[in-house]
This record gives sequence, C-alpha cells and structure tokens, in this order.
Amino acid sequence: MKNIGIIFGTRPEAVKFAPLIHALNDDERFGTRLISTGQHREMLDSTLAEFRITPDIDLAIMREGQSLSEVTHRILEGLCAGRHLDGLDAVMVHGDTATTLAGALAGLHSQVPIIHVEAGLRSGSNDSPFPEEANRKLVGQIAALHLAPTPGNHANLIREGIKESAITVTGNTIVDALAWGMQNLHSYGSPVLADLDTDPRRVILATTHRRESHGQPMHEIAGALADIARRDDVRIVVPLHLNPKVRSVMLPALSGIANVDLVDPLPYLSFCRLLRRADVIVSDSSGAEEEGPALGKPTLVLRDVTERSESLLTGSSRLVSRHRGQIVSEVERLLDDPDAYAEMAHAINPYGDGRATERSIAAIANYFGIGPAVMPFVPGADVIPGEMAIPGADVFASVA
Ligand code: UD1
Repeated sequence: MKNIGIIFGTRPEAVKFAPLIHALNDDERFGTRLISTGQHREMLDSTLAEFRITPDIDLAIMREGQSLSEVTHRILEGLCAGRHLDGLDAVMVHGDTATTLAGALAGLHSQVPIIHVEAGLRSGSNDSPFPEEANRKLVGQIAALHLAPTPGNHANLIREGIKESAITVTGNTIVDALAWGMQNLHSYGSPVLADLDTDPRRVILATTHRRESHGQPMHEIAGALADIARRDDVRIVVPLHLNPKVRSVMLPALSGIANVDLVDPLPYLSFCRLLRRADVIVSDSSGAEEEGPALGKPTLVLRDVTERSESLLTGSSRLVSRHRGQIVSEVERLLDDPDAYAEMAHAINPYGDGRATERSIAAIANYFGIGPAVMPFVPGADVIPGEMAIPGADVFASVA
C-alpha cells in the first residue's frame, strides 16, 4: 500500500481535494494521511464537515490578519518539526496557496516526492495573482508528478522544462465536486435568501477576496455593485469572505441597499444552489472562474490577468478589471442584450468532464508503477454538471 499525505488549508483546497480524498480512501492500493494546516478556520472546517472529511493532523495555524511570511513559516515549521511527513510515499498539495508552497517545501525537506494537483496554470505575472502565481511556479520546480487540468496547463509546464512523462492532463476536480454538489443541493440556510428561488428578478452572484483587490480596487467593485443595484430588475447576492480587509470595505458600501443581500460564506451545497440560481457571476475568485463556465453561467472576472484563460477563449468568461464604470457596463450589457448573454451562456466548458478524480488516481498509480497509463482529458464536451450522475455523490453529511 502506498501512503499519501494530503495537505490542505483553505476552503477551495478542501472542495477540490474532496473527490480525490474519497477516491484514494476507497482504493485499497492507497492509504492517506490527511493534514490540515488550518490556514482557514471556520471556512475550512465547515467545508470539510460537509464532505465528511476528518483530518488526521491539524496544525491550526490561523491567526487574524497574519502576514504571508508568518503563515508560510508556521506551516513549514509545523509540518517538519512535528515530523508529520515521516514514512509517506508521496505528499500531495493543491494549486497555489501558502499551504501549497509550505506543504511542498516540507515535502522537499522531508525527501518525500511531491504530487502537485492543479499544476501548470500561469498568468505570466508574479504580481497577479500575488503570491499565488509564484507559489504555483515554485512548486512546479520541485514536484515529481504534475496533474495539469488542461492541455494549456500541460504546455506551460513543458515550456518550463518539465518532462512529458511527469505530467498528466486530468481536467479539474472542481467539476467533479460541482457535479456531486448539484445532485445534493441544500437550502440557502440564510433567512434573507429564503425567497431567492422564486424571485422573478435576475440574480447576480458577486464575490471578492483576493489580495490584488484589497483597498481601492475593492472600493471600485463595491461602488459598481451599488450602481447596478439601482436597477429594480436585479437582485445581487454577495457572500462575504471572512477576511476583515474584505468586510471593512463591502459592509459600509453595500449595507442597507434593498436589493443587495450581504451574507456570510455559504456552505458548499448552498453555494452550489446559488450558482445554479445565478444569472450572472461577478467575481475575482478562481473557483468561480471555473464553476461559472462549467455551469454555463456568464462569468465576469474582476481581474486584469488570469491563469485560467481557457474560458476567455471559449467565451464563457470575460476579464472586466476592477474599474467601477467598466464593471457596470459589462454587467448591463449582459442584462440588456440577450444575444450577448446567450453567447456566453452557451460556450463550451473547458475545465473538466467530471472525471478528473479518476484520471488523477490512475496517474498516481502509474507513477508508483501499480497501474496502467492514463487517457488524458481532452476538453470540448458541452457539459452541464447538474445533469451528470457522478458515482460517489453520497459523500455529503446530511446537514439540513
Ligand atoms: C487564501 C489563499 C488564496 C485563496 C483564498 C481562498 C494564500 C496566499 N491565499 O487567501 O489563494 O484564493 O485563500 O479563500 O494562501 N479568515 C478567517 N476565517 C477563515 C478564513 C479566513 O477569519 O476561516 C480571515 C483571517 O483574518 C485571515 C484572513 O481571513 O487572516 C485572510 O486569510 P488568508 O488565508 O491569509 O488569505 P485569503 O485571502 O483567504
């Protein structure tokens, strides 16, 4: 049996790792050691509980407003001083967070091979996403196996000198999680959203949290949402990230506007319901950049550059920057021009077909020489995960 350590710390890592964790645990060739860094606290724990995942180890490193170097240092030291990677055959990290970088460095220092999930995404700028672009590139230099979601991500890795044999194109497990979620939708939970499904107005789902948006750009985003809310044919729902840098801008700017609902982060299965109900998504979140296109929801990306350019090319997302006027005009174009809306809503989903988990497990088995080679993911299927029946969707805890 091959023992694999899986290191995660933020909400999106929990969502994207969940199908992989369950698949590895169900496969007798593998054992897992689930290691939470606790980089996020409430947002991580609630998501793990929904997916019925219980960490074996919890470093509990979250402190309000701590610096990046503190987060990184405390994770690395926690993993290495606690000897939490001892005896593992591989350690798996996901994406580009501080947990990813520190987890991979701990793997390097402990001389345990690193499997990088969601490898090869590149914006081309270390400034944006900051520090995520650099984190992902650095991990790419020390990983032994790279699970790249798309052929474009594969090409990026080849350009950087990674060996072809060390890369498998899998699709993104976020589509697998979403397909599960769509089969298990929960109520919104929040009383202010109780009538959302029957509200005839168009629904805009808006979120913002990333570091490049902190400060003035977030004021612009909040101002744009307030401007859009002057229309009486829309309802804007804003799940607020727990970061005080987000709340201190969004709450004063948007509280008290009748058709703006400011809510706490939603449980995953409630968020899936909101994704399904939304007509337009406006967000700087990378998860939304994938979830929107996977569901055929026009997605306006509050960023200047992205490492997820596939959906820009297929037409289901657009970069709209963080300028108040530009955000307003792009949203209004979608609300007022049915052709523009239809064009974005019917674009192909480039990010996955719901089978990324299966391919990832096969690639890991192949890496250890205990499974055959993998048929790589070829994008192009016009998939709406809400209509897909993916095995394993019974993992969710039955919370009301
Ligand atoms: C992190 C990731 C980012 C990812 C995002 C998803 C890094 C460098 N960034 O950014 O890539 O898109 O997670 O959310 O790793 N907080 C709480 N409770 C929680 C979570 C956060 O109170 O459960 C507050 C704390 O004040 C914390 C702050 O949010 O200091 C910021 O959290 P942090 O993990 O540093 O960064 P994120 O912006 O969430």
